[in-house]
Amino acid sequence: MPDNFGEKTVCEFFAGIGLVHEALQSSGWRCLYAGDIDPKKHAMHAGHYGASDHFHEGDIWDADEVLARIAEPPFLATASFPCTDMSLAGKRRGLAGAQSGALFGFLQVIEQLADRRPRMVLLENVPGFLTSHGGKDFEVAAQELADLGYWLDAFLIDARWFVPQSRPRMFVVGYHESIIGPPLVVRRENAEWFALDDRWQQAVHASDKMRPVNLLRAIQSIELPTGWATVETGCPPQRRYELADFLDADDDQPWWDQQQCDRHAAMMFDRHRQQVDALVDDPRGVTLLTAFRRVRQGEQRMEVRFDGVAGCLRTPRGGSAKQIVLRAGRGRLDMRWMTPREYARLQGAPDYTLPDNTIQALFGFGDAVCVPAIRWIDEQMLTPVWQAAAKSLLPSP
Ligand SMILES: C[S@@+](CC[C@H](N)C(=O)[O-])C[C@H]1O[C@@H](n2cnc3c(N)ncnc32)[C@H](O)[C@@H]1O
Repeated sequence: MPDNFGEKTVCEFFAGIGLVHEALQSSGWRCLYAGDIDPKKHAMHAGHYGASDHFHEGDIWDADEVLARIAEPPFLATASFPCTDMSLAGKRRGLAGAQSGALFGFLQVIEQLADRRPRMVLLENVPGFLTSHGGKDFEVAAQELADLGYWLDAFLIDARWFVPQSRPRMFVVGYHESIIGPPLVVRRENAEWFALDDRWQQAVHASDKMRPVNLLRAIQSIELPTGWATVETGCPPQRRYELADFLDADDDQPWWDQQQCDRHAAMMFDRHRQQVDALVDDPRGVTLLTAFRRVRQGEQRMEVRFDGVAGCLRTPRGGSAKQIVLRAGRGRLDMRWMTPREYARLQGAPDYTLPDNTIQALFGFGDAVCVPAIRWIDEQMLTPVWQAAAKSLLPSP
């Protein structure tokens, strides 16, 4: 396998508006190729990063074109593939769906890269990836990656550990068999499930926040031709933050008129209304909250969150996917739609260049990854494994 290990190089598939890039560029990863089929996402990407030759606006299934554009062997390939068929919101066709099935388009490209195959791959999707088709989809993806020579790790990270947004996401990292060695720890074949002297088991149990029981069960039950490998990371720390640092409370925001506020206040559940009223009566200051409209038993309701985090940002397909900001206090209750700038902050990209079109921006951010979550994976796993591989595989001077 020819490689240029002196540099951290990455191909970003399903690049969207480029938030994987936002995370990886800060530690020096150089993007060789970024691809996405959506011209609006491409426009946002170009609006923020500038037009670049390495962006391919095209279909991952057009393997010949994709391969022709990858001039150097990448060390890493990332794929935050479409979640539409994995989400509860979709019809749960899983990997058989036209959207989420694009993962196979990615795997085809990785296979056809042959001796230019990346040494690491990072997949991202919703937690439904683990449970779709009774776990079969996850198993199929794991087996296909293993057949391509990757040892695997799988874990869940919630953006709320870094920013005030509830956004649990499933990640799979593949480490090519050619780079297995420290800091990677591999699962011993035939080790008892709770073998305390097994470093791999110690590592996965020490990061139990990232590996819920159903994920551990899946890992335990899937036999791979390669195996399972991990890095001893421990659990991501819970950062301290205030929702108010991510949302705007000033009067210049597009607050709704009284009629629209009253209409939405009438949609609140009684218990939510009582809590909001208590905050409205607070003379000391204002509290910012977030809410979604949802249909419950045939009725439009407004679900308000009181746990100091925003709900998961989504693409604005229908009013129920758009998030509402509430400002309660000093005798007033105001409401409005969350703005693109607030979406950007909640995705960990506060300075992202926004397009003029609000819906385009909300689509872009609603589909994107949360930057600090990817940064943590990079700091803890991707960069340390690259460093070790670069040291051991580069010819001595
Ligand atoms: C979950 S989003 C990825 C978002 C991205 N990681 C970001 O941070 O903006 C999935 C992306 O896959 C793209 N996509 C869907 N089908 C595709 C295909 N067949 N070929 C290439 N890209 C595709 C969509 O346009 C969407 O931007």
